[in-house]
Amino acid sequence: MKLKPAQSEVAPGHGGVAAHGARHVAIIMDGNGRWAKKRHMPRVFGHQRGVEAVRRTVRAAREMGLEALTLYAFSTENWRRPEDEIGALMSLLKRFIVDDLDEFAANNVRLKIIGDHSAFAPDVVELIDKALARTRDNDGTTLAIALNYGAQDEIARAAAKAAARGPVTVESIAAELDTADMPPLDLLIRTSGEVRLSNFLLWQAAYAEMCFLDVLWPDFTPDHLAQALADFAQRERRFGGR
Ligand code: IPE
Ligand code: IPE
Ligand code: MG
Repeated sequence: MKLKPAQSEVAPGHGGVAAHGARHVAIIMDGNGRWAKKRHMPRVFGHQRGVEAVRRTVRAAREMGLEALTLYAFSTENWRRPEDEIGALMSLLKRFIVDDLDEFAANNVRLKIIGDHSAFAPDVVELIDKALARTRDNDGTTLAIALNYGAQDEIARAAAKAAARGPVTVESIAAELDTADMPPLDLLIRTSGEVRLSNFLLWQAAYAEMCFLDVLWPDFTPDHLAQALADFAQRERRFGGR
């Protein structure tokens, strides 16, 4: 079967959905530790290389016409990791924002955080909030970074807000989710070979297509994304109908 090209001629922010048909892709960026271990290097080396994979993936997502890319960077359960690894992840996050903010601003990327980043250290919170403010009015690709994010926490927070406003319904909860202003999730990718969701976008994944790749996150390239989008374009989505 011939695959449709994943590359799009339609730029986001100018209307229209790219040829692959996906508007919103989310990625569980997993396997940094194993990537480093294979090279007899400390885990943090894998995280450093993981940031480079993030950078090229964000560029590729823009070029491939995605309206939204959501990246799982730090889960509510990742606090269980050793303090020095958490510290290294925070330093990398800060450096990423400092180094890449100009590029986001120049390319009409809107930065968004899902999860509760207010739990982070004050300097990290300040840096993030400034980056959010600077890119708030951009209407190209939305880059949502999941920080201190857990889907169960997100749904509980949304349900509490919905209950405070009135009847709790599917729609009233959906309207309070962290992703409420984003297009529906089309495709969820996980790297590293693990086949689980690890508390990521449980609600939004209800009818998303899934793609589990046997590649460790630092090895993820735009070609992997293009292939995942080409596979997505071949899938028949039924949403329970027939
Ligand atoms: C993913 O890589 C990055 C984060 C969770 C922050 P891991 O650190 O989970 O790497 P593995 O899964 O141990 O290889
Ligand atoms: C999921 O990966 C979280 C992120 C990628 C940020 P984990 O490595 O934390 O998930 P488990 O522990 O393998 O399920
Ligand atoms: Mg992991």
